[in-house]
Amino acid sequence: MKILVIGSGGREHAIIRRLAADHPAPELHAAPGNPGIAQLATVHDASVSDLDAQVRLAQEIQPDLVVIGPEAPLVAGAADRLREAGFAVFGPSAAAAHLEGSKSWAKEIMAAAGVPTAASVTVTALAQLEAGLDRVNPLNDVPFVVKADGLAAGKGVVVTTDREAAITHAEAVLTAGGQVVLEEYLDGPEVSLFCLSDGTRVVPLAPAQDFKRALDGDEGPNTGGMGAYSPLPWAPAGLTEEVLEKVARPTIAELAARDIPFVGVLYCGLALTSRGMRVVEFNARFGDPETQVVLERLTSPFAPLLLGAARGELAADTELTWSEDAAVAVVVAGAGYPAAVRTGDPITGIDACEALGAHVIHAGTASADGALVSAGGRVLSVVATGEDLEQARDRALAATEGIALDGSHHRTDIARLAAAEARSAQGVTEPAAPGTREETA
Ligand code: AMP
Ligand code: GLY
Repeated sequence: MKILVIGSGGREHAIIRRLAADHPAPELHAAPGNPGIAQLATVHDASVSDLDAQVRLAQEIQPDLVVIGPEAPLVAGAADRLREAGFAVFGPSAAAAHLEGSKSWAKEIMAAAGVPTAASVTVTALAQLEAGLDRVNPLNDVPFVVKADGLAAGKGVVVTTDREAAITHAEAVLTAGGQVVLEEYLDGPEVSLFCLSDGTRVVPLAPAQDFKRALDGDEGPNTGGMGAYSPLPWAPAGLTEEVLEKVARPTIAELAARDIPFVGVLYCGLALTSRGMRVVEFNARFGDPETQVVLERLTSPFAPLLLGAARGELAADTELTWSEDAAVAVVVAGAGYPAAVRTGDPITGIDACEALGAHVIHAGTASADGALVSAGGRVLSVVATGEDLEQARDRALAATEGIALDGSHHRTDIARLAAAEARSAQGVTEPAAPGTREETA
């Protein structure tokens, strides 16, 4: 099987790494890829934003399947263009990807489908701001949640107890011509669950937890994700089935009823609150860095699964198999991330890092005169597995120390609480769930 993967980040590197592990291994192509991807696939220089170039490339390579990784080309219609050109595509149409492209439309779909989510108000003018904040946080006793309505690479959301900071963020979005979604604050740990769909049927992958804040202890601003782990030993039994029943299936059915079939991965970002599970956000693609840990544990063949979804032939009773091992990913971010990022810094130590039993996924890297340099905010993720989270985490962190990148930073508390609780539980089935957010920004 010949597969073309569109994208250049850590998610795409992880997808390609997992596809390359299938038996028989597919012939892999990527556009534009990155230096890590280039070790596993033939890379082509069609950019993520150039849909014409992607179609031309597919016509040249004639892949059996095109997998579109990032949200921007999906929202811009890359899947539509490639399908029109006759290719099997894993990735939703622009209309379906609007679920990620517009938080207010996602809220509308959730309301129509009866999916539990935070109460929200969409604000289009400064004059509506104060009343909107009062509506979602009437007692002024929990953090304000202020979201830019459109795509923002995980950085359009501010969660803060400081009303002035909430207003400042909302004003910045509104004056730039955008809309703002104000939300009720959701407490409780977060879970990411990827649900594959062929437009009607849904097959869930294993849940993971992401760490959104830049700094240890969930301090600092929101980012695209600073680390992840899977499995979640603390998660309630039946969580995946509950998400399927209350979130994924009704959403896919609502879209199908509107003649907007969702083919690809419905990323369900969830909060397990004291009042039950709620959707925090939908994305229309795999999450980064959760993909790194989820696919690391998937032992079922991957390419047939993506192809089945792309062709509308996903078997709803698909039983996926998973490694018993735990996986932890630690993101190495460049100087300044998530604010203004410095790029072009040399990266060394990958071999030393991998010699310690981890592997390195490239996200924001480039080759310059034969050397590997940073080219984005999240530069690498270091992924390790182990018998349990503690071991996987120790390995990932030890290996991360081997990476040399001037000014870089990473979190040291990825999976710490979950690992400690799993160890101390020693047979106790329901430890308290970790990851309760503290307001910080
Ligand atoms: P989003 O891009 O909508 O996923 O938001 C990014 C991050 O902001 C989430 O992963 C949460 O950590 C936080 N967040 C978003 N919405 C809420 C909410 N309603 N309550 C609490 N935290 C939230
Ligand atoms: N890690 C969060 C995301 O991919 O949106």
